[in-house]
Order: sequence, then structure tokens, then C-alpha cells
Amino acid sequence: MTHPARPDAVLEVEDLVVRYGAGADVLRGVSFALGSTEIVGLIGASGAGKSTLLRAIQRLVEPASGSVRLGGTELTSLGSSDLRAARRRMGMIFQEHALVGRLSVMENVLCGTLGRTGFWQALRRRFNEADVVEAFRLLHRMGLDGFEDRRGDELSGGQKQRVGIARALIQNPDLLLVDEPTASLDPAASVRIMTLISEVCRESGLAALINLHDVPLARRFCPRILALHEGRIAFDGPASDLTDAVLTDVYGKEAVESYVVGGPDSELGYPDPEVGGLSSETSRVD
Ligand SMILES: Nc1ncnc2c1ncn2[C@@H]1O[C@H](COP(=O)(O)OP(=O)(O)O)[C@@H](O)[C@H]1O
Ligand SMILES: [Mg+2]
Repeated sequence: MTHPARPDAVLEVEDLVVRYGAGADVLRGVSFALGSTEIVGLIGASGAGKSTLLRAIQRLVEPASGSVRLGGTELTSLGSSDLRAARRRMGMIFQEHALVGRLSVMENVLCGTLGRTGFWQALRRRFNEADVVEAFRLLHRMGLDGFEDRRGDELSGGQKQRVGIARALIQNPDLLLVDEPTASLDPAASVRIMTLISEVCRESGLAALINLHDVPLARRFCPRILALHEGRIAFDGPASDLTDAVLTDVYGKEAVESYVVGGPDSELGYPDPEVGGLSSETSRVD
């Protein structure tokens, strides 16, 4: 149960098959391993199974067959309390609307500690002092000093996403699973959020699997790309090898011509955070 096939892998997925109810297979034998500090972009057309893969890794949807190992521990056979403990090692970042609107920014971040604080303690808002100190540090890192008491629903899309990142990081996970973090952000805010996510992963030596429908963003921020096509891995390799021919397989010819023309350098209007200083850009709060 604790024998990773790849000693440096934080996550190993093997022959994963997932279907919803009695429907057709959505994932049809997906295999890959994620190194302990790797940042991997997961791309693929809408409906390819990207979100399903992220959910199946956490067993939010039960795989029909196959294996998911986190740090060598097989997750598919864990009982519920061990599974809860394993899930705490995976930080999840969703689209911005996943915050609790009526809670404060601080409370939203501290929701990330619920797994270890316990429900009743959290309900009485008795958070551990060390967690509160860590939440302040993370909010500072996210460029959100002074936002602690703001309500979640008062924030802009980029601000909500920064709170979501802090909430995932306060768990002190081994791995971040990120589902379309920029789906509701404008291009400039998208670049800032992806810059932040990749910076915090590098700072903490965290691995990340980031579902991005946006190919130029994935190429720019993820050294390695996994492409899903109809529930199978159609490409797994360095972003620099993601050619137009591969993209045509994954997205179809028309989509490639209209959206992702150009090589790895095409920016499609994304502003460069390095212009005017990276840190000033990332610390700007949208
Ligand atoms: N809860 C669900 N019940 C039934 N089918 C689902 C459910 N979630 C997703 N699907 C189906 O599974 C396929 C893959 O969906 P999804 O993983 O959301 O794709 P992606 O994130 O790549 O757009 C789609 O055909 C979708 O309709
Ligand atoms: Mg999705």
C-alpha cells in the first residue's frame, strides 16, 4: 500500500476509469505521475473529462477501476476517515465563486483548516491561534492586507480567487488541484493569478495539477502539459513540445485555427507581468 512506483512522485494515477451512473466512460484509462514539485497544466476541450479527473483523484466521484496513489498511499481503497485525512493533503482551488459570500475573508481562509479544527469548534469560531497567524501571513502573501473583515461577496473576481488560494494553502497540502482558476477573470487578472499560483508552488515546493481551458496560459505557466481528449491522455510532455498538430488532435482543426494559432510564443493579448516589475503586478489587487 505504501510503495510508490516512482519514488519522487506525489501523485500516481494508473488506468483510471470513471463513469457517472450507468453512462459511458468519461475517463477511459488515464495514467500519469506527478513529481513532488511539478506544475502541470491539464488541457482539453470542454467535456474531455478534466474536472472529472480532479474530482476522481479526491474520490469526490468514485473511480470504476484503476489506481490513485498519493505519496504512495492507495486512495481508492481507503475507508472514510483515512480518506478525509488524505484529502487534507490535497488543496483544491476552484473558480472564484467557491467562497462563502456571507463569511469574512478571514473566515473563508480559516475554512481551509476545518478538516483538522473540527466542525463544532469551527462553528463556535474557535480557531487555533497558530492558524489565525498563518491566515494573516497568507493574506499578506496574496496582497490582501486589510481585507480580513471584508465579506466574501464584496470582493472582485481576482480578490476572491486570492482568498481561495490562501484557503487551499492553509491546509499545508502536498499537492494543489486547481480547476479553471481563471475562468471568470479578465486576461490581466488571469496572468496575475497564474503568476501567484506558480510562485507559491515554487516557494513551498508544492506540486500542482491545473485545469486550464486556455492553452496560451497553460503553455506559459506550466512546464509540463497533459492533454485529455475524450477521456484519454492525448499528450503528456513539455509545453515546448505542444505543437499545433497535437492541438489539432485535442481540439479539432477549426478550434485550433481560430483560438490557438501561433507557436508557444503567441500571447494572444495577455499582458506580460514582467513589464513594470513582476512583484508590483502580482501584488496589485484586481
Ligand atoms: N455529475 C455528472 N453526472 C453525469 N455526467 C457528468 C457529470 N459531470 C460531468 N459529466 C459528463 O462527463 C463528461 C466530462 O465532464 P467534465 O469532467 O466536466 O469535463 P471538462 O472539465 O473537461 O469540461 C461530460 O460529458 C459531462 O457531461
Ligand atoms: Mg471542467
